[in-house]
Amino acid sequence: MAYVRVFDNETQVAGAAAVIIASAILHKPNVILGLATGSTPIPTYRELIRLYQNGVLDFSRVITFNLDEYCHLPAEHACSYHYFMRKHLFENINISAGNTHLPNGNAPDLAKEGIRYDMAIETAGGIDLQLLGIGRNGHIGFNEPAEQFTYESHVADLTPSTMEANSRFFEEEDMPFQAISMGIGSIMSAKEILLIATGMDKAEAIRKSLQGDIRPQIQASILRTHPKAVYLLDQAAASQLDCSKA
Ligand code: F6R
Repeated sequence: MAYVRVFDNETQVAGAAAVIIASAILHKPNVILGLATGSTPIPTYRELIRLYQNGVLDFSRVITFNLDEYCHLPAEHACSYHYFMRKHLFENINISAGNTHLPNGNAPDLAKEGIRYDMAIETAGGIDLQLLGIGRNGHIGFNEPAEQFTYESHVADLTPSTMEANSRFFEEEDMPFQAISMGIGSIMSAKEILLIATGMDKAEAIRKSLQGDIRPQIQASILRTHPKAVYLLDQAAASQLDCSKA
């Protein structure tokens, strides 16, 4: 069962998430972090940058693996996840570029790239702490609703709901329709999982993932079988939870 903590607002969720990540770095300077993109983690990354600037955190030995990247979008594109991570975190802290990893959505053979990425995670020793957001349809990474869970890194066709959520960032002709994503296997193999969700548009996915059946149509529901998964929510994202089931 996942441990759930509800905060008044998004700022507190970010503060709490940053405390957990900071504590992991302080305990293990060469910690392996799994990182997410999207709107939700931006305030958490801001907090981590502040802790670095105040001299509290040293990222020089930290290793990161991101969840996903769009396919066929140049890494320099302002909407690529490579660009996102540089802008919102990496270029503001003392992490070594060689210690940061994202799947290559432009690899000539994307199936091989998935195998390479899983092996890189395994060779590094596996993820210590995986940060996750959640899609409105319950996706984690780009593990979209499906008939079964996919354990390996793989190319995912984005669902209409995800493409609609992403449309705020893209010109229509640039809009990617596929992404390469870490699979459920690497996510679930992380020693600890930290899912953050804020806002009313996540309330249904949060309810289904925490209080519905565990099923691949709501990919995040599998997190309940992880021994160390924590959900940090604001009031809005928690608003559909049935407290009698807590
Ligand atoms: C991004 C990712 C996605 C997002 C999810 C929520 O790396 O893996 O699963 O976490 O789509 O995105 P936001 O935070 O923009 O609502």
